[in-house]
Amino acid sequence: MCGIVGILGSKPVATDLVDALRRLEYRGYDSAGIATVENGHLERRRAEGKLRNLEGRLLTEPLNGHTGIGHTRWATHGKPTERNAHPHMSPEVSVVHNGIIENYRELKAELTAKGHTFETETDTEAVVHLITDGMRAGLGPKEAVKAALDRLQGAFALGIIFAGHDDMMIAARQGSPLALGHGKGEMYLGSDAIALAPFTDAITYLEEGDWAVLTREGADIFDRAGAKVSRPRVKSVASSLLVDKGNHRHFMAKEIHEQPEVISHTLSNYLDLSTGGIKFPDLGIDLANVTRVTLSACGTAYYAGLVGKYWIERYARVPVEIDVASEMRYREPPLLPGGLALFVSQSGETADTLATLRYCKAGGQQIASIVNVRTSTIARESHTALPTLAGPEIGVASTKAFTCQLSVLACLAIAIGRARGTIDDKLQDELVKALTEVPRHISTMLRNEKVYEDVAHALSHARDVIYLGRGVSFPLALEGALKLKEISYIHAEGYAAGELKHGPIALIDEAVPVVVVAPDDELFDKTVSNMQEVAARGGQIILISSASPDRVGCKVLAHLPIPKAHPFTSPLLCAIPIQMLAYHTAVIMGTDVDQPRNLAKSVTVE
Ligand code: M6R
Repeated sequence: MCGIVGILGSKPVATDLVDALRRLEYRGYDSAGIATVENGHLERRRAEGKLRNLEGRLLTEPLNGHTGIGHTRWATHGKPTERNAHPHMSPEVSVVHNGIIENYRELKAELTAKGHTFETETDTEAVVHLITDGMRAGLGPKEAVKAALDRLQGAFALGIIFAGHDDMMIAARQGSPLALGHGKGEMYLGSDAIALAPFTDAITYLEEGDWAVLTREGADIFDRAGAKVSRPRVKSVASSLLVDKGNHRHFMAKEIHEQPEVISHTLSNYLDLSTGGIKFPDLGIDLANVTRVTLSACGTAYYAGLVGKYWIERYARVPVEIDVASEMRYREPPLLPGGLALFVSQSGETADTLATLRYCKAGGQQIASIVNVRTSTIARESHTALPTLAGPEIGVASTKAFTCQLSVLACLAIAIGRARGTIDDKLQDELVKALTEVPRHISTMLRNEKVYEDVAHALSHARDVIYLGRGVSFPLALEGALKLKEISYIHAEGYAAGELKHGPIALIDEAVPVVVVAPDDELFDKTVSNMQEVAARGGQIILISSASPDRVGCKVLAHLPIPKAHPFTSPLLCAIPIQMLAYHTAVIMGTDVDQPRNLAKSVTVE
């Protein structure tokens, strides 16, 4: 949730630290800071807000040390102020931290009683004082860190430097990812390989409980018990993932427009286009006899999973249990032996999803995950990782990752249906053909930018917006509302269309736009009744549909057409108008589209 970087360099490292932090800003941007070893003592610069504020500070107050750590923060404990910004430090030690130290209150009380003075509201400061306490008692940096790690509870990643030690940095991983980068006479530390991509492609991923002592010559890695361990050095492909906005004003716009291409790539990984069949990887389970699928994810990935439930139940006739990961992990549902547990995550690092995965793994389930980052923890801890080939998604609002997740789920539903005999050759041909037409249909829709922009003007005046959908379009209504609220800050809620009359209809009046996701499928006429209920109360209907608005029989403020296609693929097509509406509304309102307030791209805390 926060981004960590560290460099043991052969020249001043401040500029490279900031550069690496820029690539980690997707993890948080409430504040940023760096600390370096300057002639034997520790110095730091920090600034509230975006990274550019820190850059400004460094222009007037430069740092010249060759050893340094940096941090970009998504606040968990304490307001996003400069005082709470990382690195935190004592005269002896400076620490950057991602994650949560769960027992920091006890540690703070204990250390305060011993005479330590806490200056911030953060949990991280307890780590600083704990290590300092050990060092003041006579321990060396390595021993003091090990003693501190033994006391820390929670999920975290740490980067630590020490006064008087220009050739040493310590890293620790417990629940939050951390990568070591190997350079020539230099060593690096980063929350991910992308942060380190311009410096090196030789990466070692720390494993759970690992901690490492880095010098410019390399790293000694230890496990939780303190035994020296060897972890493989791998060649990262992250440098090829470094991206810019191209000709687009925002990453989100670029990512929306990339969808025809990335959906094509993703589909071609799971479809055999020469035979019109499916080439799904072996999930290590007999799909013909699978009796239940357990599905879990967070946010947009959860809504993709919810579409997957409709597809798998309808086409493969297998019951799917689905829940948001933050609930499932504590609900601890009973798991039947031999079940398939499926997780969906763009980042592959979402803490709640990972915890639920571990619960299901311990419960004997076969684990498959649909992930965009192939080197992520969720991918690595799964029996089978099913990649989405969306490429790096930088905008906080997930767009292309969502439609690529849908693409994999669609193929999975066909694969299970084929194995179970619920999808015959004819139906498979139909479904595969429909999927292969999706990129072309989306290209056509993306040419209608002006139509979306016009409707977004109407939405930008609204205080509340309601999204409705039925059947497989219900998750699209939820996703539409999430997309709009997260980047425009307009209050929006998604409902199952049939639920409207059970409460939400009380909210409808002339000032409330109602976006209705209603492709021309067998449920269209049912949703027409709900639109009439809305119109009768003066609600302004914005219809996303392949059907003509003339069939609605009441006033429709705007119609955002989707191409006529097989109903199976309607979620992929309906995703485009809801993304476009949210994007243009946010642009009109002047919000920070790619880095909306209070959010982060990767949520590695619970
Ligand atoms: O990386 P993940 O797919 O696991 O992330 C899950 C959610 O945090 C994410 O989808 C979030 O809801 C997006 N900001 C929505 O646009």
